[in-house]
Amino acid sequence: MPRVLVTGGNRGIGYAMAQGLLARGSDVVIGARDAEAGAKAALALGCDWVHLDLEVPNTFAPAVKAAGGVDVLINNAGILIEDSMIAHPDGVRRSMQVMFHAPFELILLCLPHMAQTGQGRIINVSSGWGAYDEGMEGPGGYGVAKAALNALSYALPRDLPKNVSINAMCPGWVHTRMGGSAAPRTPEQGADTAIWLALDAPGEVTGRFFRDRQEKAW
Ligand SMILES: NC(=O)c1ccc[n+]([C@@H]2O[C@H](COP(=O)([O-])OP(=O)(O)OC[C@H]3O[C@@H](n4cnc5c(N)ncnc54)[C@H](OP(=O)(O)O)[C@@H]3O)[C@@H](O)[C@H]2O)c1
Repeated sequence: MPRVLVTGGNRGIGYAMAQGLLARGSDVVIGARDAEAGAKAALALGCDWVHLDLEVPNTFAPAVKAAGGVDVLINNAGILIEDSMIAHPDGVRRSMQVMFHAPFELILLCLPHMAQTGQGRIINVSSGWGAYDEGMEGPGGYGVAKAALNALSYALPRDLPKNVSINAMCPGWVHTRMGGSAAPRTPEQGADTAIWLALDAPGEVTGRFFRDRQEKAW
């Protein structure tokens, strides 16, 4: 079974992804920026964890090295900064760092192993708030960063090695710290499509955007 790295796996949808993947027999490692939270979640899940802070680029290479050969990368970690982009431009910069630049750097770091084994899957956890087709309603830098992540998921297949796929998915509105208590979906429901993309979707499916295992328009 594949070695799967889930960023932001210490809570929320990432934790549910790790749980679901472990239940399917995957070899899971979660990334966490907070050592205590990472170790605690990994103990509860029964998996490995690595220190990975997406706002601290010098944690990226050591984390990927410590994770071992990553067959499936799930860029899940995210932040929701809702401030005005003009009044608080740093919120845009931070959103882009966590949800675009860091995922891209992690992809680059994971690719040599994927190219060597001749297979790999990259799953970018995005949002309908970053979809032009849904009005790109994400507030502040959030929608812009998710739209950029979507663009990366759409464009990168042309440069990826054969048999390495990349897809984006939206978990829907999920009851987590980010989604809030009014959200109708459980973290498990939010995690389902990513787990499906990691383990079940045909390998030739790439450069697409999914919600509830159904392809959506960008
Ligand atoms: N919840 C929703 O309704 C919803 C809807 C659409 C898309 N999404 C997307 O789904 C993904 C997971 O969201 P969620 O609802 O599970 O959010 P969450 O409960 O707020 O969890 C976010 C996770 O990301 C981690 N994280 C944040 N900044 C990080 C950084 N700099 N480095 C490493 N990890 C970092 C957090 O770590 P800490 O514990 O250290 O903070 C946490 O593990 C996100 O990409 C989000 O945009 C969520």
